[in-house]
Amino acid sequence: MKRIAIIGGGGHVGLPLGLAFASKALDVALIDINEDTVNKISQGIVPFVEEGAEPILQACLNKNMRITTNMHAVADADVVFFVTGTPVDEHHCPKISEVTKVIELYLPYLNPKQLLVLRSTIYPGMVELLHHTIEKAWKQSPLLAFCPERIVQGKGIEEIFTLPQLVSATTKAAEDQAVALFSMIAPKTIRLQPKEAELAKLITNSWRYIQFAIANQFYMMVEEFGLDFYTIFNALTDDYPRAAHYAKPGLAAGPCLFKDTMQLSSFYENQYFLGQAAMLVNEGLPVFLVKQLEAKIGDLKDKKIAILGMAFKANVDDSRESLSFKLKKLLEFRMAEVICHDPYDKDAEPLETVVDAAEGIILGTPHKEYLNLSLSIPFVDCWGIWKESR
Ligand SMILES: NC(=O)c1ccc[n+]([C@@H]2O[C@H](COP(=O)([O-])OP(=O)(O)OC[C@H]3O[C@@H](n4cnc5c(N)ncnc54)[C@H](O)[C@@H]3O)[C@@H](O)[C@H]2O)c1
Repeated sequence: MKRIAIIGGGGHVGLPLGLAFASKALDVALIDINEDTVNKISQGIVPFVEEGAEPILQACLNKNMRITTNMHAVADADVVFFVTGTPVDEHHCPKISEVTKVIELYLPYLNPKQLLVLRSTIYPGMVELLHHTIEKAWKQSPLLAFCPERIVQGKGIEEIFTLPQLVSATTKAAEDQAVALFSMIAPKTIRLQPKEAELAKLITNSWRYIQFAIANQFYMMVEEFGLDFYTIFNALTDDYPRAAHYAKPGLAAGPCLFKDTMQLSSFYENQYFLGQAAMLVNEGLPVFLVKQLEAKIGDLKDKKIAILGMAFKANVDDSRESLSFKLKKLLEFRMAEVICHDPYDKDAEPLETVVDAAEGIILGTPHKEYLNLSLSIPFVDCWGIWKESR
C-alpha cells in the first residue's frame, strides 16, 4: 500500500486530496499546524463546508487515515504533498519565503527516495528553485513534482475525481511516479514541463478573475447609465450560444483569484495590464454598490445598513479575502451603522431580525438562504437574485 503524507492536510485543498486517496484505500497521514483543525478532523468533523467530505472522513479515520501536528509523520511516507498557503505580500508580489520556509522545515525528515509533490499554486520558477534548494542540501537530485490543484472550493471531492490532472516534474522518474499516483484518482493526466504547469494554473485562475471583471465592468457601465443591467444581460444571453458562459456580476474575491492574478502580474514584470485592470474593476465594485445605495436612500450617516453574506462566495463558510469586509469598511467610513449577516456565522443575529432592523441592504454573497427573501426596504443586489420593481 502506498503511504501518503500531506503537509497542510487540514486545509481546503489538503483535506479533500487526502480523502480522495484514503477512499482508494491508500494510507494517508495529514499533517497540520492548526490545532483546532486537527482536533476537529480527529473527531470526524470537517472544519469547513466541503460536499461529501464527512462521510469519507468518518469511514477512513483511524483506519487508513490520521491527522497529526507531528512533522515526523512525513518520514515513513512514500509520497509527500506540500499544500500550504502561497500568499502575496503588501506589494502584491509572491511571498516566496512562505514556500521555501515549509520545505526547509520538513527537509530533515524527508529522503531522496520519496516522491515530493508540490500542490499549492506557485509562482513560475518555484519548482526549479526548490529542486535546487533540496539538491544542494542532499547533494542528490530529489524526486520533485508539481501537480496543481484546480478544484472549486466546496466541490473538491467531486472534482478531484472528474477533472484532468496537470502533472509536471523535474525528472522523468518523478513525472512517471506522479502520473501513476494521480491515475488512481483522476480520470486523465496531462504532462507538462514545470514552468508550463505553473503558468497553466495561474492563467486558469486569472482568466476566471478577468471574466468576473468583464461582467462587473458592464454592470457598472449600464447601471451608471440609469438602465437595468439584468434586462440587458437576460436579452443578450437568451438562446445565444456564444454568451452561454457569460459570467454574472458579483464580488470577485477569495483566497485565490486576486492573489494569483497578482502573481502572474509580478511574473510578467508588471506588464499584465489586463490582470491589473481586472483588479481595479473587481476591487472597485464595492464602492459602486455603496454609491448605488446612497442614490436610493441618501446620506448613510447613522442609518442601519445590513450586509447579507460575508463569505467570499455563495454557499461556503469561507470569508478569507471576502470583499464584504471592504463593503463594511466603506459603509463605516460613511458613518453608517453596519449589521453583518451570514448564515454560516453561528454568532450572527437571525436573518429576520437583521432585515427588520435595516434601513437599507447590500447583498454581499448570494447564499441560498437569501434567494427567497422578499424585501420591502431599499436594497442593492448586483448578483441579480432579487426582483425589484424599478
Ligand atoms: N482553496 C481553494 O479552493 C484552492 C484551489 C486550488 C488551489 N489552491 C491553492 O492551494 C494552496 C492552499 O490553499 P488552501 O485554500 O488549502 O489553504 P488553507 O489555509 O485552507 O490550508 C493550508 C493549511 O496548511 C496548514 N499549514 C500551514 N503551515 C504549515 C506547516 N508548516 N505544516 C503543516 N501545515 C501547515 C494550515 O494550518 C492550513 O490548514 C494555496 O496555494 C492555494 O492558492 C486553493
